[in-house]
Amino acid sequence: MKNALPETGGFFARDRAMHPPALTPGYKTSVLRSPQRALISLEGTKSEVTGPVFGHNMINEFDNDLIVNYAKPGEMAIGQRILVHGRVLDERGVGVAGALVEFWQANAGGRYRHKKETYLAALDPNFGGFGRCVTDENGYYWFRTIKPGPYPWPNGVNDWRPAHIHFSIFGHGFAQRLITQMYFEGDPLIWICPIVKTIPDEEAIKRLVAPLDMNNTIPMDMRAYKFDIVLRGRRSTFFENRKEGN
Ligand SMILES: [Fe+2]
Repeated sequence: MKNALPETGGFFARDRAMHPPALTPGYKTSVLRSPQRALISLEGTKSEVTGPVFGHNMINEFDNDLIVNYAKPGEMAIGQRILVHGRVLDERGVGVAGALVEFWQANAGGRYRHKKETYLAALDPNFGGFGRCVTDENGYYWFRTIKPGPYPWPNGVNDWRPAHIHFSIFGHGFAQRLITQMYFEGDPLIWICPIVKTIPDEEAIKRLVAPLDMNNTIPMDMRAYKFDIVLRGRRSTFFENRKEGN
């Protein structure tokens, strides 16, 4: 993929009117993590506006291929092979060039490669679960991975996360980092997930669900899922870190 340099320009304040409430007791940890007082919007400082200066040429060839980027030579991650792709768009539907898109996920059994992970599902020795790429001149990104498994988590007595991929999108300043999650079309766990249910707007939830994309599915190889990320406007993607004012 040909990388593009980041767009530059003024920053916009966030529209907090569309955010779900920070305090959502169905998602237990929000009780301690949510602010107790009204948020204050601050002007961006110089370092927030001018950094980070990550090297766009530091993206390695296999950074957007989670099937092989942690695997031993000649081996591959176990799981359903998928292509995830889409565009990072602004509110006008114009592609955002040069955005750093990072993604991380559990393996096919629903287990993360993390020292605090306690789920009993097996680790895959050939799967790390992290990748990144930079959007091209049209705002397009893509990566190859395996479909993550759902996993249980200690919230209620029997809560399971739907299969999902975490995304981080970096613009050209620290204040422009946004974090969200992508879900998969047809997963019944989406609609009973306490984290998903913190989003009160059903249409906003649907925009986090990537549809199966048969047009870009590669025969005898891997299915495709399409996930466009809209940064502002009425069709904006719901971002997790907005509600904490980051
Ligand atoms: Fe997760």
